Amino acid sequence: MATRRRRTAEPYKIKMVEPIRMKTRAEREEAIQKAGYNTFLLDSADVYIDLLTDSGTSAMSDNQWAGMMLGDEAYAGSRNWHHLWDAVREVYGFKYMVPTHQGRGAEHLISQILIKPGDYVPGNMYFTTTREHQERAGGTFVDVVIDEAHDPSSLHPFKGNVDLDKLEALIKKVGPDRIPYVSVAVTVNMAGGQPVSMANLRAVRELCDRYRRSDGRPIRVMFDATRCAENAYFIQQREEGYRCRSVREILREMMSYGDGCTMSGKKDNLVNIGGFAATNEPEVYQALTQLVVVFEGMPSYGGLAGRDMEAMARGIYEMVDDDYLAFRVGQVEYLGRQLIDAGVPVVRPIGGHAVFLDARTFLSHIPQSEYPAQTLAAALYVDSGVRGMERGNVSAGRGKDGKERFPKLELVRLTIPRRVYTNNHMDVVADSVIGLFEERETIGGLKMVYEPPQLRFFTARFEPLKKEGFWAFVRG
Ligand code: F0G
Repeated sequence: MATRRRRTAEPYKIKMVEPIRMKTRAEREEAIQKAGYNTFLLDSADVYIDLLTDSGTSAMSDNQWAGMMLGDEAYAGSRNWHHLWDAVREVYGFKYMVPTHQGRGAEHLISQILIKPGDYVPGNMYFTTTREHQERAGGTFVDVVIDEAHDPSSLHPFKGNVDLDKLEALIKKVGPDRIPYVSVAVTVNMAGGQPVSMANLRAVRELCDRYRRSDGRPIRVMFDATRCAENAYFIQQREEGYRCRSVREILREMMSYGDGCTMSGKKDNLVNIGGFAATNEPEVYQALTQLVVVFEGMPSYGGLAGRDMEAMARGIYEMVDDDYLAFRVGQVEYLGRQLIDAGVPVVRPIGGHAVFLDARTFLSHIPQSEYPAQTLAAALYVDSGVRGMERGNVSAGRGKDGKERFPKLELVRLTIPRRVYTNNHMDVVADSVIGLFEERETIGGLKMVYEPPQLRFFTARFEPLKKEGFWAFVRG
């Protein structure tokens, strides 16, 4: 007799609710026009299901909220700072850390301290703010992710892996002295939330150890640890030899191959604001304490209230709970699976924090110069009040030659906040995306009418090329 598969449910129950409402079709059309067809510029009140980002949008636990009441709001030496430091030491294993207001605060400090003009910073695909800070410090970002990461249909289980040949070729070309560190993101956001394997991390470490700088030290490995727990979960599920290890143990091993990290606490740390920079090197820590006071605040608060550091400390222990991660990553897969079954082109395998629609294939009649991903994100909002985010030509911006970069990946990200929505919400999203896919030919492209010089995707404005064309997908 066949045994029926037992379903599992959220490893928590809901203690507080926040009402949401879907605005009417006419209100949504007006809202997207006012927002210049840029979902970043929509008001939250106009959004029904908000999948713009998983950043700072998590639901905190009762334990974290209780911690908020225990904030020690001293200007210096707050006890919550000690709790945060303990959590970073115990869960990540780094010796030193300074808090920052969020991830890019940490990126700013680390880039300014380690990168000199003329340096090269290899990384497993760029992230917008990370590359911006590396380039502002005078570095040149070099993409050394494996080719599969740029192919939405490749089923490689660790599409975030560093291509060791590309990395070694760069080291040989420019020499170890011009590589302050290798920037390794776990998971890789822009590739679709794709993980890096432990074997690859170990190999990156070995390669960096083989190439000494003239001061005698190996090339550093710095993690962008923003979604490190989700990466550890993928290792547990997919990599030989890790099935019986806890996520917490796996994360410690991952981090042991690095010299430090930057962290946006707004993702895996399950808080609404916060971040930190961590290092094992006393000199780097000293430089961090010198610079943090200029840009963030005292080394013992770095732009955060005591209560925020407490919530982050508690979130760090919660993020490595195996049951939580199984549900979290499982929910993203649940949405992705429905789209795959309906034939919607998405980045595969489904990543840890988001489902990425392959807008280039979805809207294959719209050339990349007319921003298919931007168009699809706007159309999805009009259809169902679901807010996603463009991650394609607009996000990639312009190169040093002033030309648009036309990245291979032209994606719409449907990012799932942690512990916020139920699988019923995922069903509503799936219905809307599948409906749009069935009527895709009726959707027309956009032109950019306002372009800010940096990180343009946040505030750029667009207009439909053919107004009737954009609205033709109307489904009442
Ligand atoms: N690194 C990665 C991989 C990120 O995804 C982000 C933020 C940062 C660094 C910067 O951190 O926002 O705290 O300053 N990603 C957000 C997102 C904005 O929506 O993907 P931050």
